[in-house]
Amino acid sequence: MSLRSKPTLAEQADRHLLYQQSVQDVETEIDFICETWDALRARPATLLREDFCGTAATSCEWVMRDLGHAAIGVDRDATVMAWGKQHNLSKLDPAQRARIELLRADVRHCRPGAADIILAMNFSYYLFLTRAELKAYFNNARAGLEDDGIFFLDAYGGSEAPMEIKERRECDGFTYIWEQASFNPINSYMGCLIHFEFPDGSRMDDAFRYDWRLWTLPEITELLGEAGFKQVDVYWEGTDEENNEGNGIYEVAEIGDADPGWVCYVVAQKRLNTL
Ligand SMILES: C[S@@+](CC[C@H](N)C(=O)[O-])C[C@H]1O[C@@H](n2cnc3c(N)ncnc32)[C@H](O)[C@@H]1O
Repeated sequence: MSLRSKPTLAEQADRHLLYQQSVQDVETEIDFICETWDALRARPATLLREDFCGTAATSCEWVMRDLGHAAIGVDRDATVMAWGKQHNLSKLDPAQRARIELLRADVRHCRPGAADIILAMNFSYYLFLTRAELKAYFNNARAGLEDDGIFFLDAYGGSEAPMEIKERRECDGFTYIWEQASFNPINSYMGCLIHFEFPDGSRMDDAFRYDWRLWTLPEITELLGEAGFKQVDVYWEGTDEENNEGNGIYEVAEIGDADPGWVCYVVAQKRLNTL
């Protein structure tokens, strides 16, 4: 009998695949971006820049939607982009793949060609810990857009956001665990972790770690204005009257609900809406 036992499910799992399956919903994200662009602009968008692209899953979704679509994914980590090439770009047909460029760079300094749309999703920009750093990033995003370009970000918050808590969610074949491990109210720095748990009892602890500042919406919208964006709107999720849960429809709002946990989009236009 072999002394080596069968590998656990955690040992066999791939953390990037688990992340894509549990955290990302690129179809819904691109649906929102297309609908919002069409509502604000009379011409089609072609070039999308995905900042903090990681595995470039969103860029892949963008180029699959339309023959005219092209994408530039920007990330500073060559390893995660190599994973994206191997597992995501490889599933595209050659013509789609030719319309994606992956750029290893810092999103605060990169200067690829002017994009119609820039994305900063899954709160990735929360890793900038000072107003100066965040504003420098917003300045660079603005400079990287066409004159009528639009910058899309998401944001999260609510009364539970600054709490040290764990949330579990069942996914297909594993459990996703989001841990807000630490929060310092003096500087709003937080330490967040993603763990995965499997039906055989095995775990992948600390699969991802984020050292963030918990930015508030007024800080984000004010800094976007200071960076020169001419119109900055918060798109807040509506409520399903039957179950009192979010209905997945995000619309411009001036007043949001004091929910324990919310996610919204921030849409920053380089120049005023002309429609
Ligand atoms: C949370 S992942 C985002 C993955 C994916 N885009 C999403 O929406 O879920 C954050 C990514 O940002 C990258 N990153 C962190 N700081 C960066 C910087 N200053 N410039 C470029 N990429 C950065 C990391 O390498 C990592 O792949």
